[in-house]
Amino acid sequence: MSQAQLKTTEATVTFTLPTLPYDKAALEPHISAKTFDFHYGKHHKAYVDKANELVKGTPLEGKPLEVAVVESRKQGVGPLFNNIGQIYNHNLFWLSMAPNGGGAAPSPLAEKINEAFGSFDAFKEQFVAAGVGQFGSGWVWLVSSKGKLEIVKTANAESPLTDGKTPLLVCDVWEHAYYLDYQNRRADFLKVFVEKLANWKFAVQNYKKDAEMTGSCGTSCGCG
Ligand SMILES: [Fe+2]
Repeated sequence: MSQAQLKTTEATVTFTLPTLPYDKAALEPHISAKTFDFHYGKHHKAYVDKANELVKGTPLEGKPLEVAVVESRKQGVGPLFNNIGQIYNHNLFWLSMAPNGGGAAPSPLAEKINEAFGSFDAFKEQFVAAGVGQFGSGWVWLVSSKGKLEIVKTANAESPLTDGKTPLLVCDVWEHAYYLDYQNRRADFLKVFVEKLANWKFAVQNYKKDAEMTGSCGTSCGCG
């Protein structure tokens, strides 16, 4: 069989399950390896498998994930958007946490957080309250919107990406994210997320990338 024939028989998929950025036990005692076995190994994998099945033969087959999130949302909330959205949201969630995470936000986010929320403690309180206040399944996000920070909550598979906002950090508040370790105590899980797990290095990287694209006037006009 020639090389050209071999290439045509290779299976191609649009979406892949990313490798976890740390060992599944690395966030213990805050999040157990058992939770990762289910949340990453089963829930996240199921979204990837289902999205690949649904995207086959559609104009979104082969598109980058962020493009697929935005474009599938324009078609309405249904199985295709829900599964693609959940891949994107979970990819960011794993990166939003780090072993020995938490603590104070570094510069320049520390200043932006004070400007937007009054103080770092006020930010943490508002983030936890937003997550607790999300009725049913969803997500709570720290986002940058035209250079200003906001806390946003979204339901099910929705994300601020489809509103043109840049996610900096996200916490999953679906019950599958915390039930094995915290049962119904969503507030305790959210407090641990902001105090012990939040990956501020990742948030700063996202903020800087957004600031470069946004420019000093708060738009993407290219003024720098
Ligand atoms: Fe989840």
